[in-house]
Amino acid sequence: MDLIPVPQVAVFDEGGRRYAFGPEPVLDAGPGAEGVARWLRRELGAATGWGLPAAGAGAAADVRLRLDPDGWGDLGPEAYRIEIGADGAELTGRAAPGLFRAAQTLRQLLGPDAYRKAPLPGREWSLPHVGIADSPRFGWRGLMLDVARHFMPKEGVLRYIDLIAAHKLNVLHLHLTDDQGWRIEIKRHPRLTEVGAWRTRSRWGHRASPLWNETPHGGFYTQDDIREIVAYAAERHVRVVPEIDLPGHSQAAIAAYPELGNTDVVDTSTLGVWDDWGIAENVLAPTEAVLRFYEGVFEELLELFPAEVSPFVHVGGDECPKAQWKASAAAQERIRELGVDGEDGLQSWFIRHFDGWLAERGRRLIGWDEILEGGLADGAAVSSWRGYAGGIAAAEAGHDVVMCPEQQVYLDHRQAAGGDEPMPIGYVRSLEDVYRFDPVPPKMSEAAAARVLGAQANVWTEVMENQSRVDYQAFPRLAAFAEAVWSRLPEPGERDYADFERRMATAHYARLDALGVDYRPPGGPLPWQRRPGVLGRPIEGEPPIA
Ligand code: ACM
Repeated sequence: MDLIPVPQVAVFDEGGRRYAFGPEPVLDAGPGAEGVARWLRRELGAATGWGLPAAGAGAAADVRLRLDPDGWGDLGPEAYRIEIGADGAELTGRAAPGLFRAAQTLRQLLGPDAYRKAPLPGREWSLPHVGIADSPRFGWRGLMLDVARHFMPKEGVLRYIDLIAAHKLNVLHLHLTDDQGWRIEIKRHPRLTEVGAWRTRSRWGHRASPLWNETPHGGFYTQDDIREIVAYAAERHVRVVPEIDLPGHSQAAIAAYPELGNTDVVDTSTLGVWDDWGIAENVLAPTEAVLRFYEGVFEELLELFPAEVSPFVHVGGDECPKAQWKASAAAQERIRELGVDGEDGLQSWFIRHFDGWLAERGRRLIGWDEILEGGLADGAAVSSWRGYAGGIAAAEAGHDVVMCPEQQVYLDHRQAAGGDEPMPIGYVRSLEDVYRFDPVPPKMSEAAAARVLGAQANVWTEVMENQSRVDYQAFPRLAAFAEAVWSRLPEPGERDYADFERRMATAHYARLDALGVDYRPPGGPLPWQRRPGVLGRPIEGEPPIA
């Protein structure tokens, strides 16, 4: 058994019998299974050369896809069953998402070559006789990609959607804006991408590095690119959650539209898109005009990300420096006018405005845990990144929570100690550390634990200048994360890491190889995966957990 994430129940035939496919297998898709059938024909078809034609009337099909809404108890829409025996493979989902997860399991059972894009000559295909019953522990199993610090072109995002889906994850959170770049076309504010999507150069390495990469960097998604990404994800039962970060992390927007900044304390007309890493001091001015500007941004965003795709819209809300508001007579006047509690009150005022604005449009706000500081509307949710504490507080207060504590699941952090890790930053978080991550910490009450929607791994890309670097940081740890959020614990607090490592070694690294993933090999980085002489920002010692 080498499935990742490990299914809840899998009973293999003791005699090791297998179902052998002939040269032209036949597929039978029941009502509602058409989308999964299309995906199987395209993906398995590429790897095997099969056309997977539909079964003729009364003819037996090698692979049968069924939806059956009944008899699953309290299991959700992603629950599925697989029966493989002498008459072929039957996949049953409670709903289309479950059937799709079943199809991913089927692909794993076929072996690593099922992940190739063309058939190997002479390859024969078979499946083990097995019965599988499976469903996820959490409904939010995500990956956040920071496409602002380094842009990931559209093709790369589509590839990541496939990688996410192959690991039974179901949320892609796109961090679309930051000080260093604005990555989504907004028709009514064209300078956001004409100006805000480009920077002249980038620091090479983390903040302490004296080196610069003088190649200009940039790129953005057109609105049609976004529609394509959203549709591609939807076919794979992955939701895309967009993030527009405010009121901090906004220098790229201010560079494009200087009136968005605090013009009485800084000449924002001279600002460029930031070329350094860290937290820029240039934050949005607390004016009605700025609210109207961003309402315009969100209006276009809501059209691109319909509620069925993501009821949640992420507004950032993290790390907003207050120095400019302290120094700005206009901001101080605003504090008095609004009657809010100083500069922190201004930050809450921004978030609360969009909380209400999104709720009026049937959407739910989600933001980084700093947004808790000013109180939130009922439907708002929190991404808990500064440890578990924000998530626990939010859940105890009745808000939904996505756990993504930086101490556990920030995949930009280095995977091993030692000088060979490329541009090492943060804490050492090994494959085993990520495997042992639990979205529900032990000290949480049962009522609060029920508010944990799930978890996501976050990939911040300051030191990931291309897709290969993203792969290196994300893999193999994303496979461990996938099991942490999909598979129920055998016993509370217990996971069998040795068995996970065995499944990685016997099958999953080979799957990643076939998929062309530049993962970190178990023995450490390959020579071309190193970045000798480029400084990172390692943090020594263990951080407090929680
Ligand atoms: C964050 O890492 N600033 C959310």
